[in-house]
Amino acid sequence: MLKRELGILTLLVLLCVHGVKAVDLITCEGLTANLTCAQGTIEVLSANYGRTDRATCSTGRPANQLANTQCLITTPLNVLATQCNGKTSCSFGVNNRDFTDPCPGTYKYMNVSYECAAPPPLSTPSPPTTTTTTPPTTPPPTTTTPPTTTTPPITTTPPTTTTTTTPPPTTTPPTTTTPPPPTTTTTKPDIICQGRSSVLSCAKGRTLLIHHANYGRRDRVTCPPAVARFPPCISSVTRNIKLWCNGKRRCVLLGTNSYSNDRCPHINKYLEVSYSCE
Ligand SMILES: *[C@@H]1O[C@H](CO)[C@@H](O)[C@H](O)[C@H]1NC(C)=O
Ligand SMILES: *[C@@H]1O[C@H](CO)[C@@H](O)[C@H](O)[C@H]1NC(C)=O
Repeated sequence: MLKRELGILTLLVLLCVHGVKAVDLITCEGLTANLTCAQGTIEVLSANYGRTDRATCSTGRPANQLANTQCLITTPLNVLATQCNGKTSCSFGVNNRDFTDPCPGTYKYMNVSYECAAPPPLSTPSPPTTTTTTPPTTPPPTTTTPPTTTTPPITTTPPTTTTTTTPPPTTTPPTTTTPPPPTTTTTKPDIICQGRSSVLSCAKGRTLLIHHANYGRRDRVTCPPAVARFPPCISSVTRNIKLWCNGKRRCVLLGTNSYSNDRCPHINKYLEVSYSCE
């Protein structure tokens, strides 16, 4: 019986991006979740408590406890990131006392995705398949071919020695609102739609400096579906995001109310963060 329940726990290696493996850990309600890193330290990427399918953690459960597959709350991310990040192992109980119950009566599970950040931080380029908030199809800005000095990679050569440069390959796609590769020093705001998460990160030797962070909505089209009308709906969450991210090389953020009070409860919102790497 117990063995069966434990057998439900699946450990899937999801993706292997530049040597950093993301692990998806499912732990059924009532059990203890154990996050471990054989090498490096834990960096929680997402955490969902609830139920999104009928099969997971279903052994011996009556049908009425499995019927709701639209049950999800993502706020555990903040708790777990605080509790587990930077450690080599981390255990916590999966239960309704420690985490808000999003659907009483449903038997739930915790779905945590985390990676083991290598001890000497890998200065990898950003994984291209992270949370891409598909931007509204606005026409690209007119400046298509950038001049010679494009955004330099990690090697910051002073601009004095300009040897005959080979023409830069036109790689920079002119998409507008997608978050830029986190390794570059940038002040362009990152948009994290409600319920999504994103990782701000800097190249090796640099740390995050948050400029501004707002949660809410200031236009109709960002983070679809488009919203026809909405009340004034922007809260500054700069202080909390600064506390959370400043001085770190990487920082997991969630599009959620948990950084401030919700000023417009029924509106689909997003987190806007502008930052740089110092
Ligand atoms: C987590 O670790 C504890 C202590 O080693 C163990 O009792 C528990 O069964 C583990 N949880 C799971 C889901 O394997
Ligand atoms: C766990 O979360 C990941 C990422 O959000 C998702 O792809 C996967 O389907 C989830 N697994 C279950 C069993 O809910």
